[in-house]
Amino acid sequence: MAFQLSSAGLAKVQMEMKRYETKESAIIPSLYIAQGENGGWVNVEVIRELSRVMDIPEARINEVFKFYTMFNQKPVGKYHVQVCTNISCSLEGGRELAKHLCKELNVKFEDVTPDGRFTISRVECLGSCGTAPMMQVNDKYYEKLTPEAAMNLLRGMK
Ligand code: FES
Repeated sequence: MAFQLSSAGLAKVQMEMKRYETKESAIIPSLYIAQGENGGWVNVEVIRELSRVMDIPEARINEVFKFYTMFNQKPVGKYHVQVCTNISCSLEGGRELAKHLCKELNVKFEDVTPDGRFTISRVECLGSCGTAPMMQVNDKYYEKLTPEAAMNLLRGMK
């Protein structure tokens, strides 16, 4: 079945469109709203729905979608673990941390664990360089991590 925004989602998108001078400026928040309603990822159906609702060409929405890593191009687990592997975090072990989580959970980057709980991604700077290494799990930041501390945090997420 084709993706459709809920009435609450539609109202939020319409509110975002009024918030800015041009409706194109509302593409990012609208994609975020639609992604949330589509189980955490964006597909062609989501782009089509936003194009219809916002009256913006699909290609324009697609450009924005493809540019930002905060939008997922395939399904993710209940907990989307985004480990920063940019310079400051890498210098403090961010890459090793990301690999450790994949090894412990026996999953490849960007895949979903068989129980549907986790996806591990490597991402660019999340703006918390002073507390490297760090990761974002859904909407929360976890900082100054060791591989063991990060794994313990994930074990506590049911
Ligand atoms: S380099 Fe990791 S938060 Fe900036």
